[in-house]
Amino acid sequence: MPSRQKLVFALVVLLIAAVTGLGALWLTRGPGSPIGSGTALVGGPFTLTNQDGKRVTDQDFRGRYMLIFFGFTYCPDVCPGELQVMSAAIDQLGADGDRIQPIFVTIDPARDTPEAMKLYVSNFHPRMAGLTGSEADIAAVAKAYRVYYAKAKGSENSPDYLMDHSTILYLMGPDGKFVRHFTYSTDVKALADGLREVISK
Ligand code: NI
Repeated sequence: MPSRQKLVFALVVLLIAAVTGLGALWLTRGPGSPIGSGTALVGGPFTLTNQDGKRVTDQDFRGRYMLIFFGFTYCPDVCPGELQVMSAAIDQLGADGDRIQPIFVTIDPARDTPEAMKLYVSNFHPRMAGLTGSEADIAAVAKAYRVYYAKAKGSENSPDYLMDHSTILYLMGPDGKFVRHFTYSTDVKALADGLREVISK
């Protein structure tokens, strides 16, 4: 190969390598990538009131996984269904389930007092924490967990108003950091399998 052709060939190889490298970089750091930092932004510090009227923070749950669902006690179907699934999945793990703290955070603090939460969570799991607080406390924790909630349209002025809310279930690690989420459609077996996979690592 003449030297000029060698030079052109080398330049073409370099160009391909550069384009491939940039492409790989974009794939691993790109906005749609699952390896992106977006998930790390879910969660964070919170200060709320538990079902015994005691102020608690996220620090109080360190050392255990937190399985967190947001909802309200007047919810007709979604919340009771999900809390049942959470509780049954944790029980399926046997002794390992003790490493997971089920937590129900209300997005309706006006009606969900500590007393109301105590009565409600006791229907689902003996270890379930029911957390409420001021409107500002709840707004802050919902923002940290990227939870949407609002009074349902048309029911705002009724004392029996309903709440629209996100239905994502969050699993946070013993260090308080986000591990993964589960969608509302996850059944007891799939949730138990997903939890077992994480805590057995
Ligand atoms: Ni609900």
